[in-house]
Amino acid sequence: MSNYFEKKSVEKIIQESQEGEHKLHRSLNIWSLIAIGIGCIIGTGIFVLTGKVAIENAGPGVMISFVICGFACIFAALCYAEFASFIPIAGSAYTYSYASMGEMIAWIIGWDLILEYGLSTSAVAAGWSSHFVNFLSMLHIADWPEKLALTPFDPILLRDAAGTLIRDAAGNTTIIGHGLVNIPAMFISLLITVLLIVGIKESAKVNNIIVVIKLSVAIFFIGVGLAFVNPANWHPFIPDFKEVAAVSDAVNLNTTEFWKVILHVFGKNLADGFGGIQGILMGASIIFFAYIGFDAVSTTSEEAINPSRDVPRAIIWSLLICTVLYILMAAVFTGLVRCDGTLKIETLGVDKGAPMVYAFKQVPNTLVNKWAAILIDIGGLCGITSVLLVTLLGQSRVFYSMSRDGLLPMWIAKIHPRFKTPYIGTAITGILVSLVAGFVSLETIAEMANIGTLFAFVLVAAGILYLRKNQPERIAAFRTPFVPYVPILAIIFCIALMLCLPAATWLRFVVWMALGMVIYFSWGYKNSRLRKGN
Ligand code: ALA
Repeated sequence: MSNYFEKKSVEKIIQESQEGEHKLHRSLNIWSLIAIGIGCIIGTGIFVLTGKVAIENAGPGVMISFVICGFACIFAALCYAEFASFIPIAGSAYTYSYASMGEMIAWIIGWDLILEYGLSTSAVAAGWSSHFVNFLSMLHIADWPEKLALTPFDPILLRDAAGTLIRDAAGNTTIIGHGLVNIPAMFISLLITVLLIVGIKESAKVNNIIVVIKLSVAIFFIGVGLAFVNPANWHPFIPDFKEVAAVSDAVNLNTTEFWKVILHVFGKNLADGFGGIQGILMGASIIFFAYIGFDAVSTTSEEAINPSRDVPRAIIWSLLICTVLYILMAAVFTGLVRCDGTLKIETLGVDKGAPMVYAFKQVPNTLVNKWAAILIDIGGLCGITSVLLVTLLGQSRVFYSMSRDGLLPMWIAKIHPRFKTPYIGTAITGILVSLVAGFVSLETIAEMANIGTLFAFVLVAAGILYLRKNQPERIAAFRTPFVPYVPILAIIFCIALMLCLPAATWLRFVVWMALGMVIYFSWGYKNSRLRKGN
């Protein structure tokens, strides 16, 4: 049994990272690291899901949802920061747990991180796609597949992120049903894959530029938007709870929160609905997606020039900057669009995948509503592109670490002789991500990514408690403050958010984790490099 909990010493982890063909190139300073954090955080969550949550779940209370998630993330970030300064190696929570809690827990986290990074990338690609399609519609070229004579790629194949296709029957964009495959989402994931294979340094430069554009658009959205908000739209700030499903339908697995399903088992039925504290909590469990990414900074530790000092700082700074921007953007959105439960996301037409663009189209000033909407669309596109870059980078580095340890086939960790990047792992990641993005709806993927990430945060926080108890003498450049309270709060917040996710998401999560355990016991355990002693 103790074999399953065998640990890898920090010295060994660092030594392995220095080995010839697996060595990564150190080129990232603190600014690039903060840019990677912001690059990964601000994306589909704020540009797509915030509007959806405000309209369908929480109303202006979505601002409170952001505060709740902000707390959950800052507590978790303080735990991540200590781990990152203690073990400055690629692989993130996976590597940390290998050194502190042993191989099996590390595998569980690594497998779980595939949900966080891999699935986030797919969801983000779907969000990119909906902005791209929206942009084409504003330019009146949504029938581009026909114009480019891309048959047999009938426009029926051009689908927006929510799974609805765009058909241009009479030269205008209309939504008429479900498409088959999300071509723009697949295209962008593969393009980013190529960029990452060509090199981290080039990718970080592209990322820095995109982050500047994205921040400018967010500040523009807040600044210009504030001038047009109607403060009356913020009342009631927390709309009264309204049932949208009859009590007898309380257990619709796809929409009902897991905690309600638990109550249902004990004979108490609560309906699905909009508004109230329930709406805020359900909303929080969805817009949590907007925060995913600050921990991706830690996956690039091996490429940082001064990881112990810069990685923890970059994690915390990028998170704080984004939290403030999010709350302000949510305030502007709900000030522009009245979210009292009467508006339905489906009625937004081509804007339903780009609600921030829709918000600006509501501004009475024609100059602003036309040009600002185009600008927000372009900003959304750029912003989401950089998220893709970092989440895909994060996933390929997690695969890299797991295969370097022998838990996945070693050839995945091979470094390209010229580009110095783990090209095989990156290519595999990119292909898998593009397939999921092409065939699964954004909401489903984002909820899975959320549950996986929240679970990873719980394990990381538990890891800090474990380390403080078992290795109290260990020195780290950054130490989580107020232990045990901060890790315990991180655990409570994250579990509470997990319970607010739909029951179907829990089911998928349990199946995914069970599959992971089967793979570990049948392959990883036997091939582990630690066990083979090399
Ligand atoms: N936080 C990232 C986004 O919202 C994953 O796109």
